[in-house]
Amino acid sequence: MAVLKILTYPEPVLRQRSKPVGRWDQELYKLIKDMTDTLEAVPGLGLAAVQVGVPVRLFIYDEGPGDGKSERSYSVLVNPEIVSQEGEIREEEGCLSIPEYRDTVIRSAVVKVKGFNKKGDPAEITAEGLLARVFQHEIDHLNGVLFIDRLSSLKRGLFLRRVKKLQKQSKAELSGKL
Ligand code: NI
Repeated sequence: MAVLKILTYPEPVLRQRSKPVGRWDQELYKLIKDMTDTLEAVPGLGLAAVQVGVPVRLFIYDEGPGDGKSERSYSVLVNPEIVSQEGEIREEEGCLSIPEYRDTVIRSAVVKVKGFNKKGDPAEITAEGLLARVFQHEIDHLNGVLFIDRLSSLKRGLFLRRVKKLQKQSKAELSGKL
């Protein structure tokens, strides 16, 4: 079992556009296994490879997010693409790469996503509700997009001020230790 370090904002790799997966090999299986272990260890519903510093197009997700079951079950989507979307829903959202910040984001209510499973077989999933939100959030990660980019400029300004303040605090704490 290997729990990987989850990179956090403003780590530059989070802004990279991830590259498609071309080969289903041991390296890919290990990445999927380690990312699953990592997601199991944290209170998150999805994890994109770029969040552990590997900019390739795949993410792990909780198959039954928010269904109240204690047992979580995970799956992977490789090279995922949204093929259709409908409706609109506003909900609060967070991100493992942006700890301690949540805000309301508008997403499509239903999405149809296609990609490939762990074995390399084609997969097509129609998701609604929280799972649809997870898919849209994780596919954003693969394009270097974070949920804070989808906030109004006023709210994004508030977020950035808060980050600056936190960074100043940690600098002050560091200099206090010297
Ligand atoms: Ni995220």
